[in-house]
Amino acid sequence: MTLAAIALRPTFAAMYDFRADPALPKAELYRELLSAADALTAGEADAVANMANVAALLGEMVPHLNWAGFYRMVDGGLVLGPFAGRPACIRIPLGRGVCGTAAETAQTQLVADVHAFPGHIACDAASASELVVPVIRDGAVIAVIDLDSPLPARFDDKDAEGIEALAALLANRI
Ligand code: SME
Repeated sequence: MTLAAIALRPTFAAMYDFRADPALPKAELYRELLSAADALTAGEADAVANMANVAALLGEMVPHLNWAGFYRMVDGGLVLGPFAGRPACIRIPLGRGVCGTAAETAQTQLVADVHAFPGHIACDAASASELVVPVIRDGAVIAVIDLDSPLPARFDDKDAEGIEALAALLANRI
């Protein structure tokens, strides 16, 4: 990854390469992810552009995912936002599924086995485990970041910490 290149944030004809070494320890992987997300979103006011680039980053940098993206809080419910992965459920009521639970409780949901989670919404039959982190601005949940993996128990506290740091960075940028 070339942070110097993205720091320039050219408005056209940019080429980005964010593939991370899959052998990187998680702490380092998330440090790199955060730097890349910071460089790509700093100074850009458009929320959709920022979510789109961060979803692409997640899909490219975080190994063993089959879906990564955003659901936004709109009129008291979650609505699908930018993502990397297969087409997904569009609207999720508060309290429903893993995303709706994260949004309602404002708490990270780390689910080792989605099939054991009451009310889990299966958008992609390949998903086996899931991590959902709320994005909180001025005390209110404005979105959630959702990561799905085809591997059981793919996520741990280090992944949760990394995505929570990303959510904090994005709170005023989406
Ligand atoms: N599985 C989620 C729904 C969203 S998809 O995974 C993209 C849930 O239970 O909330």
